Amino acid sequence: MNDIEQIVSEASKKIKNADNLTLNNLKTEYLGKSGVLTQILKSLSQYSIEDKKRIGSQANKAKSIIESEIENRKDSLKKILLDEKMRNERLDYFPSFYFPFPKGSFHPVVETIRGISAVFKSLGFLVAQGPELETDWYNFEALNIPKNHPAKDLQDTFYIEGMKNLLRTHTSSVQIHVMEKHKPPVKVIVPGRVYRNEASDASHSSTFYQIEGLAVDENVTFVDLKVTLTEFIHRFFGYKLNVRFRPSHFQFTEPSAEVDMQCPFCRGKGCKICKNSGWIETLGCGMVHPNVFKAVDYDYEKYTGYAFGIGVERITMLKYGIDDIRLLYENDLRFLKQF
Ligand code: DAH
Repeated sequence: MNDIEQIVSEASKKIKNADNLTLNNLKTEYLGKSGVLTQILKSLSQYSIEDKKRIGSQANKAKSIIESEIENRKDSLKKILLDEKMRNERLDYFPSFYFPFPKGSFHPVVETIRGISAVFKSLGFLVAQGPELETDWYNFEALNIPKNHPAKDLQDTFYIEGMKNLLRTHTSSVQIHVMEKHKPPVKVIVPGRVYRNEASDASHSSTFYQIEGLAVDENVTFVDLKVTLTEFIHRFFGYKLNVRFRPSHFQFTEPSAEVDMQCPFCRGKGCKICKNSGWIETLGCGMVHPNVFKAVDYDYEKYTGYAFGIGVERITMLKYGIDDIRLLYENDLRFLKQF
């Protein structure tokens, strides 16, 4: 009896830490044809009937205990090996040196577009979009820019497919798309990318962003234009800044104006950024030219409207005090991380 108990506890100890090969050997050693327990069962004939029964049942019990311990150990070995395999073969998408995971942020130009859009949305404007690849009609003709106008020069415009198409030089082209599709009242802003065939320097880039604005209805006046743009500048830059409207010229507006705001850096005292004038040119605007309404079949006797165009990079540079437009396109993370 004691022998059998001892055999079981000895076997258990060995099984506990055995690998697969050892397990097979242990199986033979204890349960095989000439195994320890098999030997005991074979030798039962020498005992009395009572002892036969007792020892026999003990030995059989021991056999099944050892058998199941071996099977359990085999199962857990399988699991251990699988775990290890999973650990070694796992694709580590996030190596530990990436933690804490870097937080992204909006590009300052995107941030500005969102900020400007939010102000105009609060003033009742909807956001519209239009194509970057345009025809002469949308970019020039319909906007009252005649055939021989200098803006159409090859030097300023990227023409594509032998003058048939072009990359829009301003977002004003979307005014035409919007008015073709919608009857007045119309009140939209259009943020978008535009292209100019020109060399880049600290304040010019051949690809840049504009936000166009257009409001058309009965009885829209220059006062609406002044109030809206003044309110925009105040909400976006700060209420204490003065705003002024200067006469200007654009083909698609009459009268036309340029809007200056008091330099936010020196508060009008004069500094390097405003070239000592105290003023900063912010955007172009005007009352929609009747010829533009004619082009989209709007009744120019019934409706009036105003339009404006904002240079996004310029506003971004003013807002964040950036002095070179090229910084906005280099995608240097050390620069972008500051926003
Ligand atoms: N399209 C002009 C430009 O690219 C900007 C502009 C000026 C847009 C006056 C307007 C406007 O809608 O009324 O320089």
